[in-house]
Amino acid sequence: MTTIGLAGAGTIGRGLIELIGRSPAASQLKIKTLLVRDATRSRFGVPAGVKLTTKLEELTDDPEISIVVELMGGVDAPLRVVTRALEQGKSVVSANKNLLAQHGPALFALAANHKVNLGVEASVCGGIPIIRLIGEALRADRITSLEGIVNGTTNYLLTRMSEEKTSYSQALAEAQRLGFAEPDPDYDVSGKDAVCKAGILASLAFGGYVDFRRIPTSGIENLQLEDLRQAERMGYTVKLVATARRTSHNNKLDAQVAPVLLPLTHPLASIRHENNAVLIESEGLGMTLACGKGAGPAPTSVSLLADLLDIAEGRQKLPDVNHPFLGTPFEMEAHGQSSSRYYLRFAVPDRPGTLALVAGRFADQGLSLASVLQPEGADPVPAPVAGGHPQVTLILTTHLCRRAQLDKVLGALAGEGWGNPVVLRIQED
Ligand SMILES: NC(=O)c1ccc[n+]([C@@H]2O[C@H](COP(=O)([O-])OP(=O)(O)OC[C@H]3O[C@@H](n4cnc5c(N)ncnc54)[C@H](OP(=O)(O)O)[C@@H]3O)[C@@H](O)[C@H]2O)c1
Repeated sequence: MTTIGLAGAGTIGRGLIELIGRSPAASQLKIKTLLVRDATRSRFGVPAGVKLTTKLEELTDDPEISIVVELMGGVDAPLRVVTRALEQGKSVVSANKNLLAQHGPALFALAANHKVNLGVEASVCGGIPIIRLIGEALRADRITSLEGIVNGTTNYLLTRMSEEKTSYSQALAEAQRLGFAEPDPDYDVSGKDAVCKAGILASLAFGGYVDFRRIPTSGIENLQLEDLRQAERMGYTVKLVATARRTSHNNKLDAQVAPVLLPLTHPLASIRHENNAVLIESEGLGMTLACGKGAGPAPTSVSLLADLLDIAEGRQKLPDVNHPFLGTPFEMEAHGQSSSRYYLRFAVPDRPGTLALVAGRFADQGLSLASVLQPEGADPVPAPVAGGHPQVTLILTTHLCRRAQLDKVLGALAGEGWGNPVVLRIQED
């Protein structure tokens, strides 16, 4: 019998307790202690005999407990629990992407020093065994790139907008009603959740810590239905994609989290609603696609239980100095050096000469435009500038250019006071 201590009995903690209670595979696991903020509240589903506590030492310092499962959310309190547990020689299982993305190197170093396991399968893409795929099945291959839809909330919103032609705010309200979006959706829609996961996956795939704070990130909060409609007319769909690839010329890492126009034939284009998927390209295998349920108590608990069983049965390899998080931090490619086509949507004053001005700024940088469109009846019609001209929507696409070049054009146009345009990379294959 393996005795475990659980930190957190919220959405995921309750899901894990329920799965351990009914899974025959988990018969060898016994939950002894449950760390919560409020130990006086009655807890539905917690088995009789499990002790509730607010003192972390009752988990981390109990000699009977050999594995601590951290499911608290946030960073500071989990960091205290996980650090103390590892220092006390306990293995840890965690679903906490924030903790891992920020403190992964220190925590894996601690686990290696104390010769204990740190299981993190549930921290990225919920139930999809993406960490095992990268760390075990593909460890004999050399991964060259990753592309992933790793946030279910944004994928749900974009699917609703694209398929049902609902506005961003309508789709968000519906997602909140159904529990696919938090009351404060910022963490998801701004790309902050996705970039933590991108940092973790890139660290594991490329064998060196990738600090998520260095990955350029933009979210979907400024997208409008018009962008999805226009993408569709062009033969694309819009997805929030986390990308990380080794550059062939200097073996640096080129990474980004941003909404992207994907061709409808792209493997990630068909990933709908709250599902997640990661497309891995490796030298021997070529393309491998892992997809499935990326969040929620049931899928996440499957990954947590798999880690627990592997550790309890001695099947999980102990981290050592060769663990990817302990490898030399990857050098990042300077932002804006890779070439791509771009989609841009501006709200511009409806007056003669505006288009010529925009085209002129592109020409100043030696960039020519692939298409220019001023859609009639754009939805929504941009609000008139106070005391000025009515505004219209102007949509442009570029030929291949470096983002750094495009940023110079945008810098030159910033002085016009039109506000920031929506800029989306157009992926060609
Ligand atoms: N939700 C998902 O679909 C999903 C998917 C994958 C990974 N995750 C990760 O799983 C973790 C847990 O998420 P969740 O949605 O289950 O969170 P949650 O519903 O907010 O539950 C948090 C639990 O932790 C306890 N807790 C929080 N701070 C504490 C502290 N300082 N001391 C003691 N106990 C504390 C809370 O105690 P009280 O009950 O007393 O308040 C509660 O039981 C997070 O790291 C999240 O990122 C979530």
